[in-house]
Amino acid sequence: MVKICCIGAGYVGGPTMAVIALKCPSIEVVVVDISVNRINAWNSDQLPIYEPGLDDVVKQCRGKNLFFSTDVEKHVYEADIIFVSVNTPTKTRGLGAGKAADLTYWESAARMIADVSKSDKIVVEKSTVPVKTAEAIEKILTHNSKGINFSILSNPEFLAEGTAIQDLFKPDRVLIGGRETPTAQKAVQALKQVYAQWVPEDRIITSNLWSAELSKLAANAFLAQRISSVNAISALCEATGADVTEVAYSVGKDSRIGPKFLNASVGFGGSCFQKDILNLVYICECNGLPEVANYWKQVIKINDYQKNRFVNRIVSSMFNTVSGKKIAVLGFAFKKDTGDTRETPAIDVCKGLLGDKAKISIYDPQVTEDQIQRDLALNKFDWDHPVHLQPLSPTAAKQVSVTWDAYEAAKDAHGVCILTEWDEFKKLDYQSIYENMQKPAFIFDGRNVIDPEKLRKIGFIVYSIGKPLDAWLKDMPAVA
Ligand code: NAD
Ligand code: UDX
Repeated sequence: MVKICCIGAGYVGGPTMAVIALKCPSIEVVVVDISVNRINAWNSDQLPIYEPGLDDVVKQCRGKNLFFSTDVEKHVYEADIIFVSVNTPTKTRGLGAGKAADLTYWESAARMIADVSKSDKIVVEKSTVPVKTAEAIEKILTHNSKGINFSILSNPEFLAEGTAIQDLFKPDRVLIGGRETPTAQKAVQALKQVYAQWVPEDRIITSNLWSAELSKLAANAFLAQRISSVNAISALCEATGADVTEVAYSVGKDSRIGPKFLNASVGFGGSCFQKDILNLVYICECNGLPEVANYWKQVIKINDYQKNRFVNRIVSSMFNTVSGKKIAVLGFAFKKDTGDTRETPAIDVCKGLLGDKAKISIYDPQVTEDQIQRDLALNKFDWDHPVHLQPLSPTAAKQVSVTWDAYEAAKDAHGVCILTEWDEFKKLDYQSIYENMQKPAFIFDGRNVIDPEKLRKIGFIVYSIGKPLDAWLKDMPAVA
């Protein structure tokens, strides 16, 4: 029986390995992590992450050929194939701080693999890493190898949260990069055999190592660039009376452009886009390519601009101050169908409103109060460095309340902001929300989930990203 060990039981390691176990009953898969809490949760009925369809997959295989363990060394020692799916955050200190990927977790995993291995291993980069990381990992492994042969492959993961199980069942492509040597090519074939159990062969692409590593960064940069492009156009729509939904629809009808990833929003979030683009920018700078670095930097700049613009719109339309006013925030996760809040635009919007002394009441169907309070207390990039996790300061906490009910959040509020596109926000009884709010009652839709005309008829002053503005908003000072 082939044995797979995956180091890192997170959003990627957990679902990916669960699907491999489901599709390959003859392979034993063990997911290991240094976090005891995470592993305990994977072994319980309350999985550590919310992902549609995941519970079912885990239930079918756990205890048969899928296991979760904190005994990292034992399972690495026994494995034939080791996936490394640890976090690769943005560095917060030292050289490259604020841009470069922090490979501390990766390096410590690689050193541990070198220490405990007694047989040949295929080591698979599953984490998103800077191009050329495999070379560094190879050095760590071979310098400590005691004659053991390590084949390093790059097999980046393209799943998106909220649709992870579907993405894993039917990936657009699986990418495997390896060196040209016969041993490495044998390893490529071995990994290909795993995926070929359920992925059509023409969707399994092989490439050289550096192309595979770079393709992941490039894919995320391209996706984020589309969102920043449509968000940039959304600002122009508001200034001219065009409607971004209509513009995006017409643009996306061009088959060379396509309709996906053209939804204007309050800004993109998630653990990947910003981190990976910053990483790409840093690599370009290190390779003497400042023009290329600046090009990609703009994608982040427009994203920050979009979040600021949203906050400014709220404040300026409410007579230039939200001090002491209750603002309801509907949705805190970075997108629907996940409880993940990493780099969610809601953090920046809430911090912006708190900076203007608003009182915020937050409702999200999947995010706990603890998580929200912690997110609002963290410094930029600290979320991916567990060592920095601390409780919120008591002063900040007073301005923020969290409820499990959208109507409760909106009661007596001056304004409602929609920051995640949860389906349930489309179906709320906005008439009753309006009746229980302060007047004039404002609604700021950062995800274009509500019908502005319907809400205007109820009496709301409505702002929807990239849509023609109410007379009220037009009269307010321009938003930069
Ligand atoms: P995560 O933080 O959810 O999980 C990483 C896990 O690795 C944590 O549980 C951590 O405790 C564990 N870990 C760290 N060092 C370890 C060590 N030395 N030994 C054992 N366990 C260790 O991160 P994630 O979202 O799963 O992302 C992992 C990687 O995959 C990142 O590089 C990310 O960029 C990439 N990625 C993420 C997504 C996504 O949607 N989240 C998609 C594609 C790629
Ligand atoms: C992304 C990539 O899609 C995935 O391939 C990669 O493996 C990891 O990073 P993820 O961050 O989970 O996945 O979600 P995604 O669907 O890409 O959304 C990212 C952010 O962009 C979310 O905040 C989402 O709301 C926003 N978004 C997405 C938009 O604002 N508009 C869109 O049209 C699409």
